[in-house]
Amino acid sequence: MKDLFAKYDVPAPRYTSYPTVPFWNDSPTTDQWLEHLNKAFVDDSATWSLYFHLPFCESLCTFCACNTVITRDHGREEGYVDLLSTEWSLYLDRVPALIERPLLGVHLGGGTPTFFAKENLERILKPILSKAMIDKNRFEASVEVHPGHTTREQLAMLHELGFTRISIGVQDFDPEVQRLVNRHQPYEVTKSITDISRELGYTSVNYDLIYGLPRQNPDSFRDSVRKTIELRPDRIALYSFARVPWIKPAQRSYKDEDLPMAGEKRALYELAREMLAEAGYIEIGMDHFALPHDGMAEAQRKHTLHRNFQGYTEKRTSVLLGLGVSAISETPTCFHQNEKAFPVYERRVRNGEIPTLRGHLLSEEDRQLREQVLQFMTRFEVRLDPDQRDDARVFLQPMIDDGLVELANGTLRLTEEGTPFLRNACMFFDKRLRSQEQRPQVFSQAL
Ligand SMILES: C[S@@+](CC[C@H](N)C(=O)[O-])C[C@H]1O[C@@H](n2cnc3c(N)ncnc32)[C@H](O)[C@@H]1O
Ligand code: SF4
Repeated sequence: MKDLFAKYDVPAPRYTSYPTVPFWNDSPTTDQWLEHLNKAFVDDSATWSLYFHLPFCESLCTFCACNTVITRDHGREEGYVDLLSTEWSLYLDRVPALIERPLLGVHLGGGTPTFFAKENLERILKPILSKAMIDKNRFEASVEVHPGHTTREQLAMLHELGFTRISIGVQDFDPEVQRLVNRHQPYEVTKSITDISRELGYTSVNYDLIYGLPRQNPDSFRDSVRKTIELRPDRIALYSFARVPWIKPAQRSYKDEDLPMAGEKRALYELAREMLAEAGYIEIGMDHFALPHDGMAEAQRKHTLHRNFQGYTEKRTSVLLGLGVSAISETPTCFHQNEKAFPVYERRVRNGEIPTLRGHLLSEEDRQLREQVLQFMTRFEVRLDPDQRDDARVFLQPMIDDGLVELANGTLRLTEEGTPFLRNACMFFDKRLRSQEQRPQVFSQAL
């Protein structure tokens, strides 16, 4: 197995979309984007969900690959709330269906959404939630929080607005690992926010953990997983540390010898996987775990698990609309991303423009491959078209020989041993990546 980790530890996308962002090459203009957005709502049965990117954090965790703005200046909150509100009205003017079709979900991501004072979070959400068509039985709202920067008052207000899910950034409980990644977060702080969430009535508490961080070792990580199990979150996202120092220079502060690599790194995942299974958690997709009562476990059982830019999710909506700097949106036929550079985003929204940075108009072939990637990432098996089968035999032969995937009767299936190599197998469908002779270094390692 150790050899396999060395063999397959190559750069690979995480496939939160297909085509993956670096291969978007048919960018819509803003007008085209709006046309596709309106088209997605034509069908009476269309639904949508909303993502807000709230980029501010008080300090930089050096492992972080998110799009953040590091500042302690809370005076910036109000200006950002105004930008989001302008962006929302720009859409509302041009896409009237936003208040005619059911809104099934809201997610606050970041950055650290709880950087914002309770009043400002309310100013972001209330005008939209009061206008949108919400069916309480189908609506789910979730928020990502840094427990060191979260108050009971914020969580109580969000719960009153309908939030029932909270995702708490933990990463690792070990003080030495925390010191190296510049994230001081005592166990008691995580416990306190977990307890408060439950008292307030949040029904799904998620923890984000990362394996592969500097100086993590089996003993320290075992202890972190033990502490996690003690606090019993309903869900756990156990992410592979994505090392992309060419994009995130702060990751250069780690010494190579401090980082668990390939097989060593995977051993940390396996250790957690075993402990979590023993504690009653079910493995979901590539890097998630959930207790059997949780919606994500149910989605896996019912084959409704979905994957989008936020990773694995329970529900698929026709449209995902992203507001805020760098936010990504999608419809069945088009991807769209907002400006990533804060000053440019700010200037363009102030000028009354939808701040399109780039996107991708999906071809018919893209749409077919996107469905196959989605199925393979969520169900670990997918039917191949007759004209894909010979190519699959050639491209995937090494993985077939190594017992990681099976190809029988036109169905491609990931084996139990192949689970760690899901991203590698998925590259078969990635026509755009495979057609590139020289691959620029844009993706983190597969393992
Ligand atoms: C927006 S943050 C979560 C909320 C809050 N800012 C916090 O840190 O607690 C999203 C999550 O992405 C994950 N993440 C960030 N950078 C990562 C990286 N380089 N590799 C793997 N996961 C990463 C972390 O687990 C983090 O909790
Ligand atoms: S991990 Fe969270 S708190 Fe840390 S820099 Fe990234 S977004 Fe901010």
